[in-house]
Amino acid sequence: MSIEPVVEARGLIKRFKDETVVKGIEFSVPPAKCFGFLGPNGAGKTTTLRMILGQSPLDAGDLHVFGLPVRSRGSEIRQRAGVVPQIDNLDPDFTVVENLRIYGSYFNVPKPTLDRRIKELLEFVELADRADKKITTLSGGMQRRLTIARALINDPELIVLDEPTTGLDPQARHMVWARLRSLRQSGKTLLLTSHYMEEAERLCDDLVIMDHGKILDQGPPRALVKRHVEPEVVELRGAADRAAEMLDGSVDCRTEIVGDTVYCYTHNARPLIQKIDGVDDLVFLHRPANLEDVFMKLTGRELKD
Ligand SMILES: Nc1ncnc2c1ncn2[C@@H]1O[C@H](COP(=O)(O)OP(=O)(O)O)[C@@H](O)[C@H]1O
Ligand SMILES: [Mg+2]
Repeated sequence: MSIEPVVEARGLIKRFKDETVVKGIEFSVPPAKCFGFLGPNGAGKTTTLRMILGQSPLDAGDLHVFGLPVRSRGSEIRQRAGVVPQIDNLDPDFTVVENLRIYGSYFNVPKPTLDRRIKELLEFVELADRADKKITTLSGGMQRRLTIARALINDPELIVLDEPTTGLDPQARHMVWARLRSLRQSGKTLLLTSHYMEEAERLCDDLVIMDHGKILDQGPPRALVKRHVEPEVVELRGAADRAAEMLDGSVDCRTEIVGDTVYCYTHNARPLIQKIDGVDDLVFLHRPANLEDVFMKLTGRELKD
C-alpha cells in the first residue's frame, strides 16, 4: 500500500507580473517527516510555502495538500495546518496569552480545550512565566517561540515554518531545533525553509535545494553530500597566493579559491596534510564535507543581494 503524501506538487509555476519566480517545481512530502526548502534569498522558498497554504494562487501546475486541491480547498487546508511566517506578526497590543487566545478563535477551538492547550504550549516553548506580559517586552527569541506555540494552537497535522531560526542567538536556535524534533517525533509533518545548512542537516529527512525558482537537486542531506562533493575538505587560510606551489601534481584534489582561502575537496586528505603540516604561517582546517559545500557548489559563491 502506498502512503499518501501530505503535500504533492507537480509543475508548480508562479509569476509576478512578467517575472516567473517559481519555474515548474515538483516535490512530494510524506507524512511525519521534516522536509526542507533550501536556497539563497529570492530563490522562491516563501512563495512556494504560500502556494502550499493557498495564500498565493498558482499560475500553473498541480498542488495537493492532505490530498485536497489547494485551488479550491485552501481554507480547509489552512484549518489543518500551522504556520510560522518568515517575520513574526504577533499583535503588540496584546499579551502572550491573549495572542494565543485570539489566534485560537480563528480555528473554533472550544474554550476548555483552548485553555488547556495554551497552558501546555506555553510550557512547551518555555514561556509560562511570561503569560501575561505584553509582546513588546519579549526578546526576539521569545517572540519566535511564541509564534511557534501559536502555530500549534489548532493541533495541526502539518506545520509550515519559514526561516524559523533566522536572527536567533545560538541558545534560542538550539531550543527551537529541539522543539521541532520533538514535534516530528510526535508524528507531525514539518515543512521548513532555511538558509542555514547546519539547521537543514540536523532537522530535515529530505530537502530540495532551490535557486532562481528551480529545484537544483533533492534528497536526504547525507545523500546530497555524497552525490555532489568529495568526502573530505581541507581549508587553507591565507594561502590563496601559495596555492599553486602547495597543490602541485602530488596532491589529488579539486580546489576552489574564495578570497584568501583555498578549499580542497578530496577523497583522501592525508597526502595534502602531510605536505602542509608545519608550514609556517599556514592555518588549515581538515573537516568532513557538509551540506554547505553542496549548497555553494550548486548555487554558486557570488553574493545574492
Ligand atoms: N508579492 C510579490 N510581488 C512581486 N514579486 C515578488 C512578490 N513576492 C516575492 N516576489 C519575488 O519573487 C522572488 C522569490 O521571492 P521569495 O519567494 O520571497 O524568495 P525566498 O523566500 O526564497 O527568499 C523574489 O525575486 C521576490 O522579489
Ligand atoms: Mg523567504
